[in-house]
Amino acid sequence: MSAKAVERLETRPSDAAIQWVDLGERAYPIVIGRGLLAQAGALFEAHAPAKRVAVVTDANVAPLHLSSLETGLKRAGIRTVPIIVPSGESTKDFHHLQTLLEALLENGIERGDVVAALGGGVVGDLAGCAAGLLRRGVRFVQVPTSLLAQVDSSVGGKTGINTRQGKNLVGVFHQPALVLADIDTLETLSDREFRAGYAEVVKYGLINNAAFFKWLEERGGALRGNADDLIHAITVSCASKADIVAADERESGARALLNLGHTFGHALEAHYGFDGTLIHGEAVSIGMAQAFRYSRLQGFCNQDDVERVTHHLASVGLPTRISHINGERPAADGLLRHIRQDKKVRDGALTFILTRGIGEAFIAHDVDAETVERFLEKECDTGTTHGRTD
Ligand code: GLY
Repeated sequence: MSAKAVERLETRPSDAAIQWVDLGERAYPIVIGRGLLAQAGALFEAHAPAKRVAVVTDANVAPLHLSSLETGLKRAGIRTVPIIVPSGESTKDFHHLQTLLEALLENGIERGDVVAALGGGVVGDLAGCAAGLLRRGVRFVQVPTSLLAQVDSSVGGKTGINTRQGKNLVGVFHQPALVLADIDTLETLSDREFRAGYAEVVKYGLINNAAFFKWLEERGGALRGNADDLIHAITVSCASKADIVAADERESGARALLNLGHTFGHALEAHYGFDGTLIHGEAVSIGMAQAFRYSRLQGFCNQDDVERVTHHLASVGLPTRISHINGERPAADGLLRHIRQDKKVRDGALTFILTRGIGEAFIAHDVDAETVERFLEKECDTGTTHGRTD
């Protein structure tokens, strides 16, 4: 972090880590620490000249954290307009986007104000999209309350909604002015949600940081009970994402690396229909293990790395195989159909994120669809529902 960048942050709370996303004039800090909601006023002040913040949150998060954020903002004389949307992936649609935009307009939210997203990835994506569209763009602050949102979706400016045609197909790039990741909010997550977010933490080690993966092997299983380690893991994850986003904001190249495990994972999510059978981070965990197994099959990486990855994911209770999902088995051709819908297919070739080993992910543009289908046939047939060590 440069000295100039530190100056841009007017208030630096103690006991917090700060990671900048260096996008020139649009650079912004990710502040990671404890008790940050209570200090929100000081952190938001510079971004809210009209001293008003529309806080978009959902029905699950509102009773847990809304009043802490509002109290924190009031300490700096900032008024709040709370807008509560239903929780769940189905809120990311045209109907709720329209309702939210109309609520923001009816409350007179304009360019001197801030739209803040308090919640997980759904709230962040929906509120960010609304902030990017409202009056052609108003200031936006992310206050992520899930581990998944703190290490991934709140950083990088991707916003959007789902349509009948697929996930995140309508949206805008709209970078936040600030990301405020208060780890105290993670205490209310279920173990399952926390684990699912942890899959995205592991992803950063697997993409380009073998030393971080090793650290996670040693300490990742106990993150929940150790605030310093948790702040470290979130900071390293955000630093990795910040570097990739700064180099390729609009995903014309390296940003695609962040999709490691997501092509296989999205196909599984689409198959199970977002009904809670398989949540995003779990799908990513299986998808990452599959990306390693597929890379091994193609001779790109060695078996030791495949085993280290699957062993670590399994050791924290994450699924690594289709057979670990508590639901009926999908068919390979159905999964491939989802993959083809998700991706541009050129002359029968697909783009996947593959790997030469832990910390050595790469973008492969020429993956043969038939080979993937044969691989998926085996994946759909393999394993039992007992044990998660393979
Ligand atoms: N979650 C992937 C990205 O932000 O590019």
